[in-house]
Amino acid sequence: MKKAIVVGATSGIGLELARILVSNGYRVGIAGRREERLRALQLEQPEAYCYRVIDVTDPFDVLLQLDALMDELQGMDLLVLSSGTGDLHEVLELGIEQRTIDTNVLGFTRVVDWAFDRFQTLGAGSLVAITSVAGLRGSRHSPSYGATKAYQIHYLQALRQLAAHRKLPLRIIDVRPGLVDTAMAKGDGLFWVASPQKAADQLYKGIQKGRAVVYVTKRWRYVACVLRALPAWVYHRL
Ligand SMILES: NC(=O)c1ccc[n+]([C@@H]2O[C@H](COP(=O)([O-])OP(=O)(O)OC[C@H]3O[C@@H](n4cnc5c(N)ncnc54)[C@H](OP(=O)(O)O)[C@@H]3O)[C@@H](O)[C@H]2O)c1
Repeated sequence: MKKAIVVGATSGIGLELARILVSNGYRVGIAGRREERLRALQLEQPEAYCYRVIDVTDPFDVLLQLDALMDELQGMDLLVLSSGTGDLHEVLELGIEQRTIDTNVLGFTRVVDWAFDRFQTLGAGSLVAITSVAGLRGSRHSPSYGATKAYQIHYLQALRQLAAHRKLPLRIIDVRPGLVDTAMAKGDGLFWVASPQKAADQLYKGIQKGRAVVYVTKRWRYVACVLRALPAWVYHRL
């Protein structure tokens, strides 16, 4: 039986992905801060899930809890990091930036470094992290969110290169959603908003196909191309 850990499985894309993994025969270790939601998900199929309360901003406990989850699963083939945070704010406020950086940069780095290290020891594995199309270009609507997602995209590229350099058979997968109908989709005039189920389904299929970068939904790949191609003088006027 294959084993997966999903960090950020209490709601949204992570929750739906955990369900898809279980329906495809995985035993899944789920994590997040809201214990009642972890317990509720486990109750859906008690033998298929185990859980740990994990706050990725806690520098020490997160590593202990991840090790405990992996021990309980007796291995790990796949780790998915879905935890993330971000706010819309055009007023620059250090408190908001710090909260975003703590989760999306420091918390992200703790979890993916742990997974890379464990997969290296195990000799194989797939490491998936959910970044964002918002990481492709800075945005005045949410300066730290876009910047932290850019960090994640670059960090995953670095891990992919490191794995290749060390000849490790690890798969490092960067999933870039556009807009998904969860608490993270904020603001007015949202378009092409996918359901969390559809996003998780495409994410799972992307993992199966062995893609290094997966856009969710697929049409966001075209937005990504436009975002990258827009000259700065046009982009700055948006
Ligand atoms: N929805 C979108 O439109 C969209 C677009 C692009 C990218 N994304 C990315 O997709 C990922 C999943 O978000 P979502 O849309 O599914 O929203 P969501 O339902 O709000 O899920 C966010 C998850 O992150 C977890 N989390 C937040 N802070 C955490 C912390 N300190 N420690 C551990 N877990 C933490 C939450 O669990 P607890 O609160 O229980 O800890 C929750 O399970 C995020 O990385 C987000 O940036 C979303």
